[in-house]
Amino acid sequence: MTKDFLKVLLAENEISARVEQLAAEISKDYTDKEIIAVCILKGATLFYSDLIRRLNIPVKLDFMAISSYGYGTESTGEIRIKKDMENDICNAHVLIVEDIIDTGCTLSNLIEMLKQRRPASIKTVCLLDKPERRKASIKPDYCGFVIEDNFVVGYGLDYAEKYRNLPYIAILEPKIYEKTM
Ligand code: XMP
Ligand code: MG
Repeated sequence: MTKDFLKVLLAENEISARVEQLAAEISKDYTDKEIIAVCILKGATLFYSDLIRRLNIPVKLDFMAISSYGYGTESTGEIRIKKDMENDICNAHVLIVEDIIDTGCTLSNLIEMLKQRRPASIKTVCLLDKPERRKASIKPDYCGFVIEDNFVVGYGLDYAEKYRNLPYIAILEPKIYEKTM
């Protein structure tokens, strides 16, 4: 499978060390508060499960699945909720957990939508940020790693549903996606 990758961008130990730091920062900022941590399926699942087990504040778990309209490798402005969360977030502190912010369209639309439910606060944590391709003016409150504009897979991230289970993050060999486009 390693022939599918240009290189490993983030090794397992680098990811876990950074997740530990993020969890410490988040726990400190939310001292004496309870949060609802919302995992954005499916890409954020590995990051989410590693992050929440390191938080030392009360956490309620919840999950959302969203699809952005549009085809190809870029998302457009609109989003559709495929699976909504179960908690009522009115007056709650919400932390959205995302895998990667690219154009920022998905997250900025999601935040606007969730604000209408009147949470006490809403913040975002993303494992990866690709600021080069940003279209929507959005900055995550917490970010694991800022990366260059390459298509990455592993640790939850996929290409055509593959590679999500890898414990590291790798840059996908462009031949893999050029073949099928
Ligand atoms: P936005 O709306 O910020 O979209 O453009 C973010 C979503 O796009 C997907 N995405 C990627 N998925 N490797 C992936 O596996 C990547 O390099 C990548 N860049 C963007 C991802 O679903 C994310 O939630
Ligand atoms: Mg995603």
